[in-house]
Amino acid sequence: MAVIDLRSDTVTRPTAEMRRVMANAEVGDDVYGEDPTVRQLEERVAELLGTQAALFVPSGTMANQIALRAQVRPGDKVIIGAGAHVWMYESGALAALAGAQTHVLPGDGRFTAAAVREAFTPQDPYLSPTRVVAVENTHNMGGGLLWDQDEVTAVVTAAHALGMAAHLDGARLWNAAIASQTSERALAAGFDSVSVCLSKGLGAPAGSLVAGSRELITTCHRFRKMYGGGMRQAGILAAAGLHALTHHRERLAQDHDHARHLAESLAQVPGLRVALRKEMTNIVMVDLERTSAATLVAAARRHGVLLGAVGARRVRLVTHLDVDRAAIDAAVAALVQATRECQAEADAQERAG
Ligand SMILES: Cc1ncc(COP(=O)(O)O)c(C=O)c1O
Repeated sequence: MAVIDLRSDTVTRPTAEMRRVMANAEVGDDVYGEDPTVRQLEERVAELLGTQAALFVPSGTMANQIALRAQVRPGDKVIIGAGAHVWMYESGALAALAGAQTHVLPGDGRFTAAAVREAFTPQDPYLSPTRVVAVENTHNMGGGLLWDQDEVTAVVTAAHALGMAAHLDGARLWNAAIASQTSERALAAGFDSVSVCLSKGLGAPAGSLVAGSRELITTCHRFRKMYGGGMRQAGILAAAGLHALTHHRERLAQDHDHARHLAESLAQVPGLRVALRKEMTNIVMVDLERTSAATLVAAARRHGVLLGAVGARRVRLVTHLDVDRAAIDAAVAALVQATRECQAEADAQERAG
């Protein structure tokens, strides 16, 4: 039985063509600044995002963390949305490595300019200087949610008016651009720093970039070294990223169609609750009425479908390059079956008292 892996869009394997360009990549020592393929990727991403410069790093976590580290001092505060990756899923790096504290705005991960103004604390020896606002677009734990771009602009404007910087965690900015039929450059406009990932929807095996002004990227370069992110013949990875940018961006629309189909199908399954939202992209969050996430994940695995548990009663399904429409249909059938089994088990437990 072929396993259908919906845990994340990071599980994709490089295509044969991607492997070929990786094998043939021109390389050099990137720590010496001598890898031509890395340079090419950095220039291409800076151009796509409309920034002066970009820096290739091993992961999205490093891209976010060095961007924030470069813009805060220990004790400073970063305003973020609920469930922000930079806060919840980066192993406490913001506190441990940057020494920053966070002010988490409630909601689905998105927030308003008014909330930013309210969270900002004026200069006062008792208070932590509010230095950066971080936006995540699309928002992973919110369910791949696309922001309203007018709200993003208002947030960035409010941040700048208060003397703060604005960071964009754009791990899935490519999805946001396709879903909103705009350019990545338009979505990144005004931000002081932007992180993007090549290893998610784009299907590259590894690699992210942090982008911003030349001055900021020079500072990030230093922190990349400090955080251990200097890679040598990294052109092999950069080549995969360049290939992905050319060949795998437009096709993200398919992932979004698949996710919507998956969400609509699962919404009809008794015992599952799915919020069907127009701002969703390639992530589907499913709330479970009668069974725990761990039980459903185990049952789905027995039926050849891998899901992620992201709460006691919530699972996450992510569409990507390696799942086609037939795999989505097969996954729905398997999940109908798995849910039935879990509910029968819950019924039996209830009867047993
Ligand atoms: C929104 C967001 N930002 C950052 C990251 C971190 O990326 P990485 O796993 O490459 O460190 C992820 C990973 O899933 C993510 O979803």
